Amino acid sequence: MSTTNDYIPAMGRNWLLPLYDPFTQLVGARSLHRHLVAQAAIGPDHDVLDVGTGTGNVALTVARRHPAATVNGLDPDPLALARAELKADRAGLPVRWVRGFGGDLPFEGASFDRVLTALALHHLDGPAQVTALAEIRRVLRPGGSLHIVDFGGEHEHNPLRRNRRLAANSGDAIPQRLREAGFTDVAETGHRSVLGSRCTFFKAAG
Ligand SMILES: C[S@@+](CC[C@H](N)C(=O)[O-])C[C@H]1O[C@@H](n2cnc3c(N)ncnc32)[C@H](O)[C@@H]1O
Repeated sequence: MSTTNDYIPAMGRNWLLPLYDPFTQLVGARSLHRHLVAQAAIGPDHDVLDVGTGTGNVALTVARRHPAATVNGLDPDPLALARAELKADRAGLPVRWVRGFGGDLPFEGASFDRVLTALALHHLDGPAQVTALAEIRRVLRPGGSLHIVDFGGEHEHNPLRRNRRLAANSGDAIPQRLREAGFTDVAETGHRSVLGSRCTFFKAAG
């Protein structure tokens, strides 16, 4: 399980990382990223943080769509961050890449207008998710909001439900953890299917 001291990399194994972008592109994860960024309603002068940025897909989408926003991508995996940085350099997109853990964010309180996190929460066990969500709440400015997409919601007839960490995101688990972390305004905003699995979008504030 991922705690503040270790982490599960994007594809579960370092040597599989080069396959992450082609694989996620193939299964349609890019549309999740685009939908998440649209949901976040990012303003031109917003400070934005992407937690569990991996190879940078969400942060780069934000930077491309909102050139006046300040964009930060955080991940514990230096190999994934190196790929993200290369992609940003090639595209000429100014993103600040930060090595760190969701449970111990290296930022001052009230630093961001928007925090986004895609397909990363399920890399943490339940208590670690609550710690990371509380950290995200700490770094959000008053009036700011958190936008999540992850495997979650109902897992009936879902082949991935046999995965322990994915099963632990079932039902109301993510909204409950958001409330446990102190968010008062929590909403499920939609869902899409990837690989026959339900990916659910959430918004949290307060
Ligand atoms: C499946 S990848 C998702 C990457 C990216 N958000 C995307 O949607 O393409 C999950 C990412 O979560 C990161 N991760 C794992 N544990 C973490 C933690 N404790 N805090 C922040 N990120 C973590 C992994 O290193 C990995 O890059």
